[in-house]
Order: sequence, then C-alpha cells, then structure tokens
Amino acid sequence: MPTRTRHTTPDPDLGNPIRVATIRDLDPLSADRACFALRRQNEAADVPALTAALRALLPAPGTVATYSLEESVAAMRDLGMFLGSIKRHGPEPLDLVPEALPVLRELGSRTDMVPRDTVHHYCTWNPVGARQRMYTGDVQEAYLQESVRMVFPHLRDGLELAATLGDTDLADPKFVLLTDELTQHTETMVTAIDMVVANVGPEFFARVLRPYFEEIDVGDRVLLGPAAAQVPLWLIDLAIWAADHSDPGYQEFLSDSIPYSLRRWRDLYDRWVRTPSVVGRLVEAFGDDPAAAERRSPALRASTEALARLLRVLVVFRGRHLGIARKAYDADLRLYPVGSGGASVDLLRQIIDLTRAAARLARPSSGPAPHERRRAAG
Ligand code: HEM
Repeated sequence: MPTRTRHTTPDPDLGNPIRVATIRDLDPLSADRACFALRRQNEAADVPALTAALRALLPAPGTVATYSLEESVAAMRDLGMFLGSIKRHGPEPLDLVPEALPVLRELGSRTDMVPRDTVHHYCTWNPVGARQRMYTGDVQEAYLQESVRMVFPHLRDGLELAATLGDTDLADPKFVLLTDELTQHTETMVTAIDMVVANVGPEFFARVLRPYFEEIDVGDRVLLGPAAAQVPLWLIDLAIWAADHSDPGYQEFLSDSIPYSLRRWRDLYDRWVRTPSVVGRLVEAFGDDPAAAERRSPALRASTEALARLLRVLVVFRGRHLGIARKAYDADLRLYPVGSGGASVDLLRQIIDLTRAAARLARPSSGPAPHERRRAAG
C-alpha cells in the first residue's frame, strides 16, 4: 500500500511510470466490481443501475482529503466511467447525482487537472487484465485504450526532448541526435494508428464507442469526454512548427485541448505559444539566401534533414488517422457531426495540410522561394 500523504501542492508528474503503475493498482473506491458490472448495465442501457452505482461509489465527505495524489487519480478514473456511461444513455450525470460535483471538483483540484476524467484516466491510468475499466468490454475498445496507453510514455519523453530542442542551436550536432530521438518516439503514433486501423471497425467506433465520449456539464463548465484527441501530439507540433505557422482553427483546437493535459504539458504550452518554433528558427536561419546560409553553417543541412524525417512521421500518422476518421464520421454512419474532441474531420485535413506546409518550409532547397518562406513565416 502506498503511504497516505496529504498533498497541498501535488507533484505534477503524473506521467512518471512508477506512479502510473501505482495508480493502475489502486482501487480507492472499492470500485472493481461496480466497474465490471458497468459493462452489462451499459448493454442494457440501465440508467437507474448506473446512477445508483455512481451514488454508492462516492466517498464520504472528508474522505477525499485523506487521499494520496495517486488515489485521487484512481478515484477520478472510476467515477469517470459512470459519468460517460450515464451521458451515453441520455441524461446529464450530475443532474441525477448532484452530490458528485464537489467530489469531482476536489479530485480535480488535488490532481491539478480538470474536474472530470480524461483520456489519460481512461487509458494510461486504467488497469489491464481482469480489472480493466471498459464501457463495453468489446476487444475493439481494448485496442483503442491500448493504442493510447502505448503512445503515452513516448509522447511524455518526446515533449521533454522537444523542450531541449527548443534550447538547442540549429547548427549544434546535438540537434540532429535530439530530433532523431524525438522522431523515434513519435513513430509510436504510427504503430498505434496501424493497430487501430487493423483491429477497430469504423462502425464500432461510430455507433458503439463514440457516444460514451460525449461532453458533460460539471457545474459551470462543459467538459469533453476521454477521447484520443486529448493525446498531446499537438504540443509537439507547437514546439516544432505550430507556434508561428498555424492557423486560427488549429490554434483554437489546441487551446481548447490543453486544459485536459497534465500540469507539465500545460506549462510547456505556455512557454511554447510565446516562443518561435523550430521551423520558424530554421526559416530565419536560412534567410533570403539558403545557399549562403549553408556555406556559413554547413551543419544546417543535417538539421534540416532530421526535421524533415520528424515531420514526415507526423504526416504519415495523420494520413492514416484521417483515413479511419473519415470512415467513422461518414454521413451514413456517424451519430455526431463532430469528433469527441469538439472538432471536425475537416480540421484533421487542415492539420495535415499545415504539417505538410511546415515540412516544405523546412526544406529550403526544394521548397518555395525564399520570399514565399518569409511571407509564410510572418
Ligand atoms: C476509430 C479511431 C479514431 C477516430 C474515428 C478518430 C477521430 C478523430 C477526430 C474526428 C478528431 C478531430 C478532433 C475531435 O475528436 O474532435 C481526432 C483528433 C485526434 N486524434 Fe483521433 N481518432 C481515432 C483514433 C485515434 C488514435 C488511436 C489516436 C492516437 C493514439 C488518435 C489521436 C488523435 C489526435 C492526437 C488528435 C488531435 C488532432 C491531431 O493531432 O491530428 N486518434 N480524432
């Protein structure tokens, strides 16, 4: 058993692998059985049973204050399964169980996260095996959960590499090493989407799973469900190109998504949104005369090539992801016009176009003329 400690300022690193393993093991609300029964209750659309279970799981007043950080995360994970389930069948969960509101708020504040479960609760902090929390119990849902679980540690490491990259001179030989390492981490997104495309039917996602990710009212806030759009790939974009080469639609999606992430990532967002991106710095370094810039600083070429490899991986993930998103949101299949992250398939198309444009900017010899690059950068 982990020691129970009072956390007034929680250690924000909820992505630490030891902590992740601890959270998965924990069951502070003794919710294992209820979470298993939830699958059956969902199948039967048994809202009274789901509501009664949520009410029964709520900790007594004062108990949340005794929870460790890890227990607070695990409790939010389990309550969250009931919130999404009740909403899937129609009602606003907190209209039925208003006494859950102060508990969610306290759990959110103790963990320094939104007062609702996120994709990290639903996937990364979710136990595997017999205790796995699932809305449906369908193996396709398990594949989707696994896809996020497998990318989480890589994006966490990748974001730290991106932070170091932001402080590294473009001509420093370390730049290539760091970028290549970041590329390797980002490649897990491709592995994850390939696994999902091979094992999850668009129809299952559209008709069965997507409804569980609907937004709910939490006091005066409307909070999105725990969908994969909360996976912080967009933060890697921000550091690499999007800080100065984005567009209003993507910027808005990013600022709407950031509250659902971990404290450390929100801090990185605050820093990166005000800092030139790596591509922006490269465009500046090449200036109006790329050939002269390369003569002055021959290492720029290798840096550019490393960046091109990274951007290529982002484009490959997004191309495959767009393929399945298009099918799942096809007008004949979908139940909702927009994704559970609050955005549309059109936005995904736009993000790919922006990523491709960033890749072209970072390739001065075959890219647009220097004056075009400068205009785009401005
Ligand atoms: C059936 C499978 C999937 C479908 C239908 C789907 C659909 C969508 C849609 C419609 C969006 C737009 C934002 C929104 O949700 O409102 C989106 C965004 C996103 N999704 Fe998925 N998705 C799927 C699987 C995945 C998986 C497995 C991952 C990663 C492991 C993922 C990662 C993302 C990310 C990072 C975004 C933000 C936009 C971006 O970075 O390009 N998705 N998804």
